[in-house]
Amino acid sequence: MSQTISDQIKSDPAIASTIDQLLSRCQEIQQNINGIKPPSSELMQSYDDSIKKFSEIRGGELFFPYLSTGAGNGPFVELADGSVKYDLTCGIGVHIMGHGHPAVMKASIEAGLEDVTMQGNLQQNVASMTLCEKLLDLAHKKEGSHLAHCFLSSSGVMAGENALKMAMQKNAPASRVLAFERCFAGRSLAFSQINDKPAFRDGLPEILNVDYVPFYDANDPEGSTATAVATLKSHLTRHPKQYAAMLFELIQGEGGFHLGSEHFHRSLMEICKEHGVAVLVDEVQTFCRTHHPFAFQEFNLTDLVDIVWVGKAAQVCATLFSKEYLPRPGLIAQTYTASSATIAASIAILNELDNGNYFGANGKTAQLHQLFADGFDAISSRHPELLKGPYGIGAMTGCTVHGGDHAKVVTLIHHLYDNGVIAFLAGGNPTRLRFLVPIGALAPSHIQEILEILESSLLETT
Ligand SMILES: Cc1ncc(COP(=O)(O)O)c(C=O)c1O
Repeated sequence: MSQTISDQIKSDPAIASTIDQLLSRCQEIQQNINGIKPPSSELMQSYDDSIKKFSEIRGGELFFPYLSTGAGNGPFVELADGSVKYDLTCGIGVHIMGHGHPAVMKASIEAGLEDVTMQGNLQQNVASMTLCEKLLDLAHKKEGSHLAHCFLSSSGVMAGENALKMAMQKNAPASRVLAFERCFAGRSLAFSQINDKPAFRDGLPEILNVDYVPFYDANDPEGSTATAVATLKSHLTRHPKQYAAMLFELIQGEGGFHLGSEHFHRSLMEICKEHGVAVLVDEVQTFCRTHHPFAFQEFNLTDLVDIVWVGKAAQVCATLFSKEYLPRPGLIAQTYTASSATIAASIAILNELDNGNYFGANGKTAQLHQLFADGFDAISSRHPELLKGPYGIGAMTGCTVHGGDHAKVVTLIHHLYDNGVIAFLAGGNPTRLRFLVPIGALAPSHIQEILEILESSLLETT
């Protein structure tokens, strides 16, 4: 069989052994990043100067004084002041395998030896197709999916824009959109309109008609489902045939780690179907963080999804859609979606998660979540006024601390940061503490230490 030049590079023994040597030497050094470390006094001044300079350049203060060196190991990240911290935010849910993961590094280095181009709509490498096939394969893990196509793009919100445009084009002239109260879907002009957060569209023109449906309340499953169904029906009656799509964020991420239920989502989705309203599912934050690759599989909703989009943990963002929503030429395109190294990293991560026993009721993700849940219970039993939880699911683990008081939660997050744990917040009223954990890198001993730091930081901020 004829060999391409690329095949020759990929199968060249000298190149393969150089990559192995490179990786093993790099890992040898990386192993020294293996626990929390305070900043080095010699680096502190220049670090502070860099943080100030960067805040000025970007036109606003950084939430954390965070500038990484680019080195990390597992759940640990090294900062440019020489400190090492646990990273439980992971770029807001991006580095799901943690830092310096060997398989991800290997895939990136190998792809870095290709001709270092970006891949885009017009010119793509074989790897783009492999990634699309992998995402579709994961979407079909449960039977009944209508998702037939996959289109890559460069950000979560762009993948969402593509979904919305496809739904609007098919269902034109219907142009209204339905979404959940407290939802967040990204920061394009259209999605700033959809987000249920007035501050995120301050000063922007109203370009979309959006109507809201209240989300599920775990304390009142039947009542909240009935209220949501009644609200949806009333919108559909008030504006007949005017809704192009309803956006479902099945587990609210930014909104505060609120879970829906199968019955809740199914009831609403079935009504959408009856009225020709496209069922759009935003899985930018949930993808690969529940016990299934997709949260719609977690809630047994596979048969009802028209369009779904992913981002964050997938590294490369993508919109998956059914044949009915195939866009007409010109509607969606993208100069570039990602670098070859990122696409290779994405494939490596998805293969690792798919083959590495992460999913399922007893998978690694569920086991790690349980350790956090037990730890939260223990802290809560000692200090019931300080912590309630867990909230979330799988690798989206949260708790309500200090009664959900926003200012106190922000103070706690900064204490945690100074004590060596990078965590973030979610929601308002209550504001919650949010861990988007690197499931590919966390061991039970790490979780034990993180929980000890959480408890002492809580006590410090009381
Ligand atoms: C549910 C959800 N949708 C969309 C987005 C937007 O993704 P991106 O910032 O990659 O555009 C986010 C980001 O936090 C998100 O959580």
